[in-house]
Amino acid sequence: MIQTPHSKTGTRPQVILNMAMTADGKTASANRQIHAFGSSRDQRHLYKLRSTADAILCGSRTVEISRALLDNGGNCFTRARISRGLAAHPLRIIVSGSGSINPGAPIFQHSFSPILLITTRRISGAKKRVLSPLFEGMFISPGSNLDFHAAFRWLRDKWKVRRMVCEGGAELNAALFASDLVDELHLTICPLIMGGNQASTIADGKNGFTLEQAKLFKMTSCRAVGEELFTTYTRLPSD
Ligand SMILES: NC(=O)c1ccc[n+]([C@@H]2O[C@H](COP(=O)([O-])OP(=O)(O)OC[C@H]3O[C@@H](n4cnc5c(N)ncnc54)[C@H](OP(=O)(O)O)[C@@H]3O)[C@@H](O)[C@H]2O)c1
Repeated sequence: MIQTPHSKTGTRPQVILNMAMTADGKTASANRQIHAFGSSRDQRHLYKLRSTADAILCGSRTVEISRALLDNGGNCFTRARISRGLAAHPLRIIVSGSGSINPGAPIFQHSFSPILLITTRRISGAKKRVLSPLFEGMFISPGSNLDFHAAFRWLRDKWKVRRMVCEGGAELNAALFASDLVDELHLTICPLIMGGNQASTIADGKNGFTLEQAKLFKMTSCRAVGEELFTTYTRLPSD
């Protein structure tokens, strides 16, 4: 089920993570070049989810490799957004701790909505100068590690983001899970096996969680449509 916009999270946006994965749990091949394997129905699911959100959040590698524009999906989704009181297009937010995003990426050639950058003090002055004209806003986290809680408060306070869809990839997802910032997970399980121990999963990153630290979710829906399984999970309270 796709919920309409609301925030139950107070000082930060509600975060919905949407990913497609193979039956063996992979979200992209080891070299990251195979990443689109969902059906057109899954693509529509993504657009429907986007149409409930103020913003879309993505890691810099996903934006570059998938050449994503993070658009609203076309006229019928524009209408759905407007009927929900949202802007015609979602804000587009890129996470790049070192500012390594390519300024020639296709997303920067389309100006239908503001693009924001979430980065850290690791970004060099030169990169900041190159990237500044491409972004309407920049959150620079103090220190070398990104403080997602602070970044998300900034999104809520300055950009009025109440509900945000995160579309990966695995490195960004891992950081969000570690910061306990994922409220809802939409996972489409697709009928193929990719294999490969370097292929990405839902949440990569250097260290996983112990069983005690594992983030617990409750399945709230599970629907087989065609060859795919559309599942939804909600975060359970951590204590
Ligand atoms: N199957 C699916 O549903 C799905 C969904 C999304 C993506 N994908 C695929 O997954 C692949 C990309 O995933 P990925 O895991 O390699 O990369 P990613 O998470 O998209 O992006 C990684 C980059 O994001 C920035 N980043 C992420 N976490 C950060 C943190 N905690 N602090 C600072 N910066 C952070 C860093 O940028 P800088 O290096 O610039 O600092 C990092 O190099 C692509 O092939 C994509 O198409 C698949």
